[in-house]
Amino acid sequence: MGFSANGAADKPLKFLIYGRTGWIGGLLGELCKAKSIDFVYGSGRLENRSSLEADITAVAPTHVFNAAGVTGRPNVDWCESHKVETIRTNVVGTLTLADVCRERGLILINYATGCIFEYDVAHPLGSGVGFKEEDSPNFIGSFYSKTKAMVEELLKNYENVCTLRVRMPISSDLSNPRNFITKISRYEKVVNIPNSMTILDELLPISIEMARRNLTGIWNFTNPEVVSHNEILQMYKEYIDPSFSWKNFTLEEQAKVIVAPRSNNELDASKLKKEFPELMSIKESLIKYVFEPNKKTAST
Ligand SMILES: NC(=O)c1ccc[n+]([C@@H]2O[C@H](COP(=O)([O-])OP(=O)(O)OC[C@H]3O[C@@H](n4cnc5c(N)ncnc54)[C@H](OP(=O)(O)O)[C@@H]3O)[C@@H](O)[C@H]2O)c1
Repeated sequence: MGFSANGAADKPLKFLIYGRTGWIGGLLGELCKAKSIDFVYGSGRLENRSSLEADITAVAPTHVFNAAGVTGRPNVDWCESHKVETIRTNVVGTLTLADVCRERGLILINYATGCIFEYDVAHPLGSGVGFKEEDSPNFIGSFYSKTKAMVEELLKNYENVCTLRVRMPISSDLSNPRNFITKISRYEKVVNIPNSMTILDELLPISIEMARRNLTGIWNFTNPEVVSHNEILQMYKEYIDPSFSWKNFTLEEQAKVIVAPRSNNELDASKLKKEFPELMSIKESLIKYVFEPNKKTAST
């Protein structure tokens, strides 16, 4: 819409992907291989404009994907004490890549975050009223989210950018420490709050299809509906480890063991569902893509 992309419908797809060593970037490359889509990983650093220009000239892609960003290790609390590094990649870098792509007539599919919202009076927990694409971020509790929210607002001005609001990503690889299920199954204590989440096994292929369709703008990139920590851990117990048990704690108690507050919210996925009617609800998708393929228990 509005942006006449170089990736014309008749040209074979060729993707330039940033984030080779990352979780989402790695999965995206594997998917392209499985789908026989030509792709090259970018070697430039996001904040270095000339390195991005050189990549685009060398690769001549039809679309660019950004799965590069800093999320912090072991978690986003890292960003609180590394503000300049966070700005360099997530703000300066992401904006530079969007700007270079625009100049070259290329759509940028940007894996962004939905952790820029929190439940509020107009979108209360349990109401089923989720934040929409046109809503402005209301969560700036962590430096990570604050900068991601700023960038989303600025990227709205780039008609070549497709912003995908990813949340609490989950994949079928339960050994990956980045996987939300793996994370919460290893915590000593977990909060129990319903949230919108992204099943990567179902949604990453959709992001490739979004590129093929030259879609742009903001998209809540989550499965419809919400699931709580306890509901996921109950499924984990049923499908993976019957002896598994966990302890809950309150948000107030959680606040004592983390540096920056975390966002909890529901995103309204109806725009994505309209474009991809086959999109499954979060609980259906969890069972189909994660728990059934990993099932270790005899019966459920
Ligand atoms: N994982 C989550 O919970 C989550 C949730 C919502 C949204 N997201 C967003 O999705 C994106 C990808 O997440 P992920 O979990 O796949 O992250 P990840 O595993 O930490 O990988 C990040 C990737 O970005 C690259 N990178 C970092 N700074 C760079 C720079 N300045 N220039 C070029 N590449 C750079 C890293 O490469 P090097 O190692 O070479 O630096 C790495 O390949 C991020 O923007 C993140 O904010 C993630």
